Amino acid sequence: MAKYKSYSIGSKWTKTKWLLERQDLQEYIPETKLFDKTNLEEMLIMYPVVYFKPVRGWGGSNIVRILKTEEGYRTRSNAGQDDWPTPDSLYEELDRLAKTRPYLLQKGIDLARTKGMPFDLRVMVQKSSRGTWKSTAIFAKIGKPGKVATNYNQGGKLGFLKSTLSGAGYGPSRIGRTRSELERMGVEVGKCFDGHNKGFRELGLDIGLDPDGKPWILEVNTRPQFYPLKHFKDQTVYRRILSYAKQYGRTR
Ligand SMILES: Nc1ncnc2c1ncn2[C@@H]1O[C@H](COP(=O)(O)OP(=O)(O)O)[C@@H](O)[C@H]1O
Ligand SMILES: [Mg+2]
Repeated sequence: MAKYKSYSIGSKWTKTKWLLERQDLQEYIPETKLFDKTNLEEMLIMYPVVYFKPVRGWGGSNIVRILKTEEGYRTRSNAGQDDWPTPDSLYEELDRLAKTRPYLLQKGIDLARTKGMPFDLRVMVQKSSRGTWKSTAIFAKIGKPGKVATNYNQGGKLGFLKSTLSGAGYGPSRIGRTRSELERMGVEVGKCFDGHNKGFRELGLDIGLDPDGKPWILEVNTRPQFYPLKHFKDQTVYRRILSYAKQYGRTR
């Protein structure tokens, strides 16, 4: 990839703390804690599903979804599915992974489905050469059945916002409202990150919608991929993102 200038930060924990400083964004952030035994127990009491993910992960890899069951806990990851009878046995297993690098715990969002498939949304936010943030594109990532992450690298498929939301039962006016809310959120996240470093030029928000249609920010990417959009038959979205990206020297 050609060299281009946009500041990048890897730690999901740092980025979550930045978001939480902004009062208007707090309601969109699923509760997130660093992994340790106490936090694991607390999160499992509060939420039926908890995500365990590396602080510096990418591409949907090394993510474990934890589900409370009648008998204990069920984990699912790319390594498969397992059952753990007690909080201690679950902790031991996760701690084995957390010994190699830090992990965090996040409230699991019951992702909305389009034609039966879970999806999340990517809001692309870019800064123009005049320094103003704009939400330039929103598209969907539709998960491959059986995967805990919707990422393209995990076999996820890209979809248009309109058709994906209409496949989830949204009518035209609700789709319009969702789009406006996400665009506004994208700009606010841009301003929030700007307050920490002026070097950010592009951000990619991963947004989960819950069954009520409430958006949740799962993560903010500072090196968002968009080349998979190139394979769309309709290249309008790709070209729009690229026209902004060229202003800061990104060519694909
Ligand atoms: N809290 C969560 N609730 C529901 N799904 C989640 C949650 N966290 C992650 N996911 C799923 O896993 C994917 C990857 O997680 P993400 O935090 O974006 O990490 P990565 O950096 O690997 O992309 C998300 O796009 C989503 O499909
Ligand atoms: Mg992601």
